[in-house]
Amino acid sequence: MNNYRTTFDDVGGLEGVRRITEAFYPKVQQHPLLAPLFPEDIMPVMEKQTKFLSQFFGGPSYYTDEYGNPKMRARHLPFPITPAHADAWLDCMRRALAETDLPDELQRFVLDRLSGPAYHFVNTTNEQET
Ligand code: HEM
Repeated sequence: MNNYRTTFDDVGGLEGVRRITEAFYPKVQQHPLLAPLFPEDIMPVMEKQTKFLSQFFGGPSYYTDEYGNPKMRARHLPFPITPAHADAWLDCMRRALAETDLPDELQRFVLDRLSGPAYHFVNTTNEQET
């Protein structure tokens, strides 16, 4: 830990990240393109994502402590992810952030930080292969 303020702090720490993921996954589950990729029991995914995003935004290394090196692109390889999936994922996240009371500028910052990884996880351009 250090004395610098992080994005993790700005969004409200672990509880703040949890509010984001709890708003996010219901949207994923309702999205025609994304829903088929995810298990019906979304709770374990939500929990892992809460831990990952906490650490991604500069908080404690909850994810790595439990699951080891994130290697997130590799963890997404079993799933066909097209540019359209990345757009959809980011749109769900944009709408989830809009439901929080975080300042608009912070919402844009968070979304912007996630758009790099989202497009980095694209691993196919085959739109048929969902
Ligand atoms: C680009 C669009 C994306 C798609 C379609 C996608 C899809 C998925 C799927 C299908 C899973 C596995 C669910 C399961 O356990 O069965 C998953 C897991 C996960 N995703 Fe994504 N994802 C995307 C982007 C992202 C981004 C941008 C992040 C964070 C920067 C992220 C973080 C995670 C995490 C932390 C997990 C859990 C990994 C684990 O099992 O330990 N994903 N994602």
